[in-house]
Amino acid sequence: MTLKDWNIPHGWFEEIINSIGECVVIIDREGMVRHLNNAYCKFLETTKEEAVGKPVQNVIENTRMHMVLKTGQAELSAIQSIKGNEMVANRYPIYLDGEIAGAVGTVKFRNRQEWVEYARKIQSLLEELNYYKTTLEGALESKYSFEDLIGQSKPFLEAKQLAERVAGSQSSVLLLGESGTGKELFAHAMHQRSSRGPFPFVRVNCASIPEHLLESELFGYEEGAFTGAKRGGKKGKFQLAHRGTIFLDEIGDMPLAMQNKLLRVLQEKEIERVGGQAPIPIDVRVIAATHRNLEKMVQEGTFRQDLYYRLNVIKIDIPPLRERKDDIVRIAQFLLKKLERNFNRHGIQLSEEVVKRLQYHNWPGNIRELENVLERAVNVLDQAEIHVTHLPLYLRDDEKQMMHSNESKEEATSTLQPLKETIMAAEKEAIMQALKAAEGNKLAAARLLDISKTSFYDKCKLYNV
Ligand SMILES: Nc1ncnc2c1ncn2[C@@H]1O[C@H](COP(=O)(O)OP(=O)(O)OP(=O)(O)O)[C@@H](O)[C@H]1O
Ligand SMILES: [Mg+2]
Repeated sequence: MTLKDWNIPHGWFEEIINSIGECVVIIDREGMVRHLNNAYCKFLETTKEEAVGKPVQNVIENTRMHMVLKTGQAELSAIQSIKGNEMVANRYPIYLDGEIAGAVGTVKFRNRQEWVEYARKIQSLLEELNYYKTTLEGALESKYSFEDLIGQSKPFLEAKQLAERVAGSQSSVLLLGESGTGKELFAHAMHQRSSRGPFPFVRVNCASIPEHLLESELFGYEEGAFTGAKRGGKKGKFQLAHRGTIFLDEIGDMPLAMQNKLLRVLQEKEIERVGGQAPIPIDVRVIAATHRNLEKMVQEGTFRQDLYYRLNVIKIDIPPLRERKDDIVRIAQFLLKKLERNFNRHGIQLSEEVVKRLQYHNWPGNIRELENVLERAVNVLDQAEIHVTHLPLYLRDDEKQMMHSNESKEEATSTLQPLKETIMAAEKEAIMQALKAAEGNKLAAARLLDISKTSFYDKCKLYNV
């Protein structure tokens, strides 16, 4: 037998590629998928029939396979995010007769258990990193005062005046209001107005701190408290806020176990560091906020009643934007001035029609939603006046309802389009909104829309988001 007879028979190759555990993709010179092995199909929840013949970017999220065709260079051990997981990718160009003919890519994890362990490690590191990045940015200073709180309508002025009156008190404050109504702004303004103003304002987002970090974040830890603990230990947020204000944002998302510990701190006015011996006295004013219905949570047993009473010494209800429609234009103009500064533009106006639409809309996302709508409009604007066409589709849907109630049938019919198109446009808009609200995190966005991860990915693909 010659060596040639020992070569692998041609027909075996596909079978071999298919049977290995790593995910393998092969693309041709044009960047089209030629082959996707079983492991990859399973991971992406697709089939060969679906994938083959499509541009690789349409099949694999965040791929750089097409770049390898351009550079002719292999990319090794690159971190690639697929379906919310950080994966390790290798990408190699395929040369035939000295010419680039395509590329082969693999994504690694050798067995499910290994992958789960790896993912758990990396994911929690990334979570921590993300958390520190965002908290560092705005740490320890308050940025807004009462002058930044725009609004003249009665319910809003009542809330603002109450906040001004009690700003100087030492009692705990509970700010309640829907998402985007300005709870954080109120907290800043109250801190600045109080005698604690020159001292730190420390914000803690109880919803975004990974649960396993919450205790050490709030109360700090001693050197050697656990593996990985920093030398010299670490101060917690309560200590950092000494003599100032701690803003416990999204308090309704605090796990029950932590609620117990928080209650103790509020009662005793001292904290215990993780791994610490002696309690440390603290002088901190607490302002808490949530968009959740805490009373209902207390009834359901998901929020401690005694903590609720502790926090609820002064309760301030911030009205939603739809209950202060008189303020919409005033706030819009204030926000436009801010946008003009950021975009280096001048004299941006709202057309009469736009003013009507803004007043008609219900604003479930409140001022934050208004901000997004205006920012989007300024982005697509080339003259000085914002028209209805610069508004997102869902606001233009309001337009249709307005027309039905006000104007002639004829005009209404001219804005109609096939139902399927309207639904698709609405879906796409919802997906973009959810992504924005979740700051790009697809898993969280899917959760916001209450759809499965898979169907979220499918829709992103469909709408090219
Ligand atoms: N009265 C107001 N005048 C001007 N801008 C405001 C006002 N209220 C809120 N904003 C702006 O709206 C945005 C949302 O406000 P903020 O972050 O305080 O809302 P929130 O109630 O904390 O929302 P969430 O519950 O989603 O965290 C911010 O960019 C803020 O600057
Ligand atoms: Mg907030």
